Amino acid sequence: MTQARKILITSALPYANGPIHLGHLVEYIQTDIWSRFQKQRGHHCIYVCADDAHGTPIMLRAQSEGISPEQLIARVSEEHQRDFAGFHIEFDQYHSTHSDENRHYSSFIYNQLKANNHISRKTIKQAFDPEKNMFLPDRFIKGTCPKCGAEDQYGDNCEVCGATYSPTELKNPKSVVSGATPIEKDSEHLFFELGHFEPMLKDWTQGGHLQSQIANKLNEWFESGLQKWDISRDAPYFGFEIPGEDNKFFYVWLDAPIGYLASFKKYCDRNQVNFDDYWAKDSDAELYHFIGKDIVYFHALFFPAMLAGAGFRTPSAIFAHGFLTVDGAKMSKSRGTFIMASTYLKHLNPEYLRYYFATKLNSRIDDLDLNLDDFVQRVNSDLIGKVVNIASRCAGFVSKRFDGKLNQAWSSEAQALFQQFADQGDAIAELYEKREYGQAMRDIMALADKANEYIAETAPWVLAKQEGKDAELHESVSLGLNLFRVLMIYLAPVLPETAQKAREFFNENVWDWSSANTPLLGHQIQTYQALLTRLDMTQVDKMLEDSKQTLQATQQPAADSAIDPIAPEITIDDFAKIDLRIAKIVNAEAVPEANKLLKLTLDIGLGERQVFAGIKSAYEPEDLIGKLTVMVANLAPRKMRFGLSGGMVLAAGPGGKDLFILNPDDGAQPGMRVK
Ligand code: 2FM
Ligand code: ZN
Repeated sequence: MTQARKILITSALPYANGPIHLGHLVEYIQTDIWSRFQKQRGHHCIYVCADDAHGTPIMLRAQSEGISPEQLIARVSEEHQRDFAGFHIEFDQYHSTHSDENRHYSSFIYNQLKANNHISRKTIKQAFDPEKNMFLPDRFIKGTCPKCGAEDQYGDNCEVCGATYSPTELKNPKSVVSGATPIEKDSEHLFFELGHFEPMLKDWTQGGHLQSQIANKLNEWFESGLQKWDISRDAPYFGFEIPGEDNKFFYVWLDAPIGYLASFKKYCDRNQVNFDDYWAKDSDAELYHFIGKDIVYFHALFFPAMLAGAGFRTPSAIFAHGFLTVDGAKMSKSRGTFIMASTYLKHLNPEYLRYYFATKLNSRIDDLDLNLDDFVQRVNSDLIGKVVNIASRCAGFVSKRFDGKLNQAWSSEAQALFQQFADQGDAIAELYEKREYGQAMRDIMALADKANEYIAETAPWVLAKQEGKDAELHESVSLGLNLFRVLMIYLAPVLPETAQKAREFFNENVWDWSSANTPLLGHQIQTYQALLTRLDMTQVDKMLEDSKQTLQATQQPAADSAIDPIAPEITIDDFAKIDLRIAKIVNAEAVPEANKLLKLTLDIGLGERQVFAGIKSAYEPEDLIGKLTVMVANLAPRKMRFGLSGGMVLAAGPGGKDLFILNPDDGAQPGMRVK
């Protein structure tokens, strides 16, 4: 073994205003496997994380629940940690960005950047909610797209026609917090001069710290120029006040990555570790950040620049991963595939998901799919059928025929097979190291196939019935169990709980990576208890059903739609002009170029209409076909980028996934007038 490395790793900090779901878990499982692997190799690896506790959405969410932000983040932190523990995510430190340590490092880094002239000021015009007395982030303004006229679009881009604009260009803009029409107001903001770091960042991003797909993306960003970054927000804001300023707060994305330092500092204080050994400019420790591909800009540009500007070391590497889809589509609440960690844990073994994700993970940033049929099949065929099966076929003979003792010495053939398994250790370790978990799992399963072939060939159940074959029987089952032991050592980073049970079955206290090199000979083992049970599709179906129910029961209005304002008054004559009809959805298809739109063909009794409806986030097209709904039948046709829209379908809900088309009762017929 080479010298122990000093490694500090992080996963992205989850926002403290929502539950952990399977999409999040890709990253925590990926990081946890790596952390456990490094520890098993004998390295000094520290895995830290925290809740990302600041920002406008958290402030508004607490308000809508009638509690303080501190109360909200305390509750969510507990929920997050409970869910992570359920999936065996073993942090060495879990902290919060709303902590003394983070206040210290955020202020310190800011002061250093300021002293080194990397902070500038500029007065900017921003949308302001005159009722709530607060500046509005772009996402908290909605209105009509200035380009295509689509309603209910966010302040920065139109999801219907794809136009980007500033909130001031939006027609009929409304604050989604109060419903008031925003006004424009000047405010002086503080900026981090990212451009000062261009030469350093160019070197760093091409210096082998990034995956090639990410490094290429960064080149595009350099070509379009590095803009200075707005790091301040005005009150009211839940965050840290900026030192030396009046009522100005650090933008949540400034103090979020500094939360990595803060969480590590907390760890240092609890474990007498020297902070500077890991973060000083001349540190010889390795520092890795596991993140999703959507937050690369923050981690590969802002964060290294901030660290360098404040005199700290920069990360050794950023490891980005892709997003999770379920059954080939983004997670859907209506189909129950928006699965929360806590719902999964009520029904299924966390190690099944850990294993399945491991089979799908590699060092690239491609998305990965949780195909539920494949999930069941893979778990059963690999973990139960190949791995655990070895132990269950051999263990009984050792207990019953040999007093629970493995044989003392074995033949050269047996030794050679064991050696083949041990010899794979370095190659499998190399795959874990490079985050090529999928290949590692395939190589381990190929070994499991070999072990099963050996058992089938030696057929201990046949030997057991023959006279004078005790020695052969003893060797067959002892080698079988030794091969199983090697496989479990290799799988331990992925299946920590099963590996621990297996280790206890072998009566051993510690398994490090090199334990796989030495067979257990003449060794007393415990009675075997089933390690894992087969997974049945009905369990998965129950989880999906529970998922649908849980989401309905806990449906919270999205923070950005806390209050839906009443529109200006209309007369009864205005209302009488609207011709509402029952329509049958005879066809529904996605519009690939538009994030939100479905193209619906509606039968209104008097012929068919084509209507574009912004409900793609809430419905799969195939779920709509055959349903009745209510439409505005006399809306003037509107020309959209994808064709003519001849009406409007009525839906209710705050938006996003929580949008429900109006379903008339049975008895309604297409064409009926709705009164
Ligand atoms: O995207 C997110 O969910 C952020 N809360 C991640 C922050 S990672 C780090 F910078 F703190
Ligand atoms: Zn538009």
